[in-house]
Amino acid sequence: MSRRPLIAGNWKMFGRQADLGELEALSTAVADLGDVLDVAICPPATLLAAACRVAGPVRIGGQDCHPGADGPHTGDLSAAMLADAGARYCIVGHSERRRDHGDTDATVRAKAAAAAAAGLAPIICVGETLEERKDGRAIAVVESQLAQSIAEMADAATVIAYEPVWAIGTGLTPTPAEIGAMHAAVRARLVGLFGAAGAGMRVLYGGSVKPANAAEIFAVADVDGALVGAASLKAADFAAIIAAHPAAAVR
Ligand code: PGA
Repeated sequence: MSRRPLIAGNWKMFGRQADLGELEALSTAVADLGDVLDVAICPPATLLAAACRVAGPVRIGGQDCHPGADGPHTGDLSAAMLADAGARYCIVGHSERRRDHGDTDATVRAKAAAAAAAGLAPIICVGETLEERKDGRAIAVVESQLAQSIAEMADAATVIAYEPVWAIGTGLTPTPAEIGAMHAAVRARLVGLFGAAGAGMRVLYGGSVKPANAAEIFAVADVDGALVGAASLKAADFAAIIAAHPAAAVR
């Protein structure tokens, strides 16, 4: 099954109004790629609405959402609010949320369901720690996260991001063979759990993706794109990563 590539940037807790210029530059750089791949940026919530106004073909996403509907939850944002601001995606279960806010697989599953109900494509993050990889448990850990963090009624719009915790922001990455083994396992598990919908879900790799390693990562079978942190903050870097995708190269 051919899946449309998705290259998504996660700005995390970075970005001021002035940085919207990077988004404008990105939207110009990817202007003619809209028919071959999807590009998204997940800015901090303070920039969401303004980002939607300058994003052009770049889709905008939230970085997290509350699992419930609008209500008395000070400081939180509902998925419906993100959609109202113009978002199309919402990251859930990022390892920094799991670490900083104690999000469990059950929380992630509820957030993903809330995002989907609001019309957002959830980007559900999974990934093992270094200790789990050293113990030979990486695939088992990720399979368990998948089984528990995706809602039963999930459809093919759901996106999975495989992000080894030890590769995020460290400059370290698994080898292409390790990425390939994990993505094959994730795909098999998604098909086992969700059938045709699972075959259609995009599976991204995330963790220290940069212009210098993007082509090698995109060449791995079953990698449908990337979730990029630090290297998505500058349009030139992110555009170079996008240009390294084979789908962009055939343009
Ligand atoms: P990084 O972050 O690209 O800076 O390693 C990736 C992520 O956390 O999504």
